[in-house]
Amino acid sequence: MESLATVVLAAGKGTRMKSGLIKVLHPAAGLPMIAWPVAAARDAGSDTIVLVIGHQASAVQGAFRGAADIRCAMQEEQLGTGHAVACALEVLSGFRGTILILCGDTPLLRAETLKSMLTFHRDNGAAITVLTALMDDPYGYGRVVRDAAGQVSRIVEQKDADPAEQEIREINSGIYCMDSDFLYSNINGIGNDNAQGEYYLTDLLAIAVHKGLVCLALPTADADEIMGVNDRVQLAEAGRILRRRINREHMLNGVTFIDPETTYIDHGVTIGADSTIHPGCQIGGGTIIGCGCEIEQCVTISGCRIGDDCHIKAASVLEDSELGEDVAVGPMAHLRPGTVLANKVKIGNFVETKKIVMGAGSKASHLTYLGDAEIGSNVNIGCGTITCNYDGVKKHRTVIGNDVFIGSDVQLVAPVSVGRNSLVAAGTTVTIDVPPDSLALSRTPQVNKEGWRLKKK
Ligand code: UD1
Ligand code: MG
Repeated sequence: MESLATVVLAAGKGTRMKSGLIKVLHPAAGLPMIAWPVAAARDAGSDTIVLVIGHQASAVQGAFRGAADIRCAMQEEQLGTGHAVACALEVLSGFRGTILILCGDTPLLRAETLKSMLTFHRDNGAAITVLTALMDDPYGYGRVVRDAAGQVSRIVEQKDADPAEQEIREINSGIYCMDSDFLYSNINGIGNDNAQGEYYLTDLLAIAVHKGLVCLALPTADADEIMGVNDRVQLAEAGRILRRRINREHMLNGVTFIDPETTYIDHGVTIGADSTIHPGCQIGGGTIIGCGCEIEQCVTISGCRIGDDCHIKAASVLEDSELGEDVAVGPMAHLRPGTVLANKVKIGNFVETKKIVMGAGSKASHLTYLGDAEIGSNVNIGCGTITCNYDGVKKHRTVIGNDVFIGSDVQLVAPVSVGRNSLVAAGTTVTIDVPPDSLALSRTPQVNKEGWRLKKK
């Protein structure tokens, strides 16, 4: 296998996004837009990837922190795509082989397409190959000008095209393969005598043709793939296509989607076979869902690990939590980060949890807040229970042993513990530790004043 390096152009601001955030960092299906073409390049066999950065350089660099194959080259001033590639040369120094050039704003590009382009390029001994597409509306793109024999002669930009050239429907995707020697010896031969006063990378095609080298244009079958995102309309469109691909993959793996068009699964989510996902769900953050789970409508899940046969009922929100098998949550429950639920736990409606461990078979079925707590197995938490974990300065822990029954409307003022097999009576405010096998009861004795209402009248 011949060696492959990639240059990804990402120095521009992306003015049409009208955003404080640089275009290539806008997320598409759970990844910054630029991470998609970078992943495609990796999967196509590229082991060195040079990002040409300028605007918000440190933010773009930060998105790839820790990635050993990523290097960055600065382009201080954006003088055009040709100039951008020239800025990458120093970082590429010494690399010999094929160089792939991509743009950071093409999230739909797939590795398979790059692989077939590379094969085409290498099999034909080309100096340069450009990926093209036929567009019904080619406005704005560079056009591929071919000679009478159908051979590529050059690319002309929209702003430089004459009326006849503007009629051409074959457009430049901005994706190229080049032989490194060809690139190194010709990139500095590009001028900026054009409508935009920019150094156009596309001029390399005419240079190759002029020198009698092999210069090829490969039309792609799927014009969607090379779509460059320039504004938020295109960002939404790209997100829709990515989600379609992601959902399709899950469905082929045995996951049922009631309505894939309204189900939002980010990149990097794993779902087991025979699980069913209802409409309106949003699942991301590397969540792993087991087999045979039911995720009802409008559930949001991020960064969770969910075992087999769990049932997450409508409109629940689960963040950075861990669920065993056969756990039921919701409807309308909120599992906040650090919630760990063992097998067969039941969390009912309007229950909020945070940093808790709950043992097997325990239940909190209604209207409860459980925070900073360690709860044993087979515990019943009654309706309206509150762990009072915060004294205004510090957080404190509540510990509840196995087989405890907490009645309704109980406050546990932490730090406090309830020993195993105890019962806390309804309405109790627990402020001192309860020993095992006990009854804890703190109620103001009730007074009945007979005839009181009659006297009032
Ligand atoms: C470019 C191509 C055009 C093609 C289109 C495909 C040129 C001259 N034109 O036009 O033929 O049809 O892409 O989308 O190449 N960039 C830098 N530094 C610069 C300029 C651009 O890093 O100085 C980056 C941008 O951030 C962007 C990419 O290069 O990621 C493309 O630049 P852009 O200005 O969008 O090029 P187009 O005008 O769309
Ligand atoms: Mg431009």
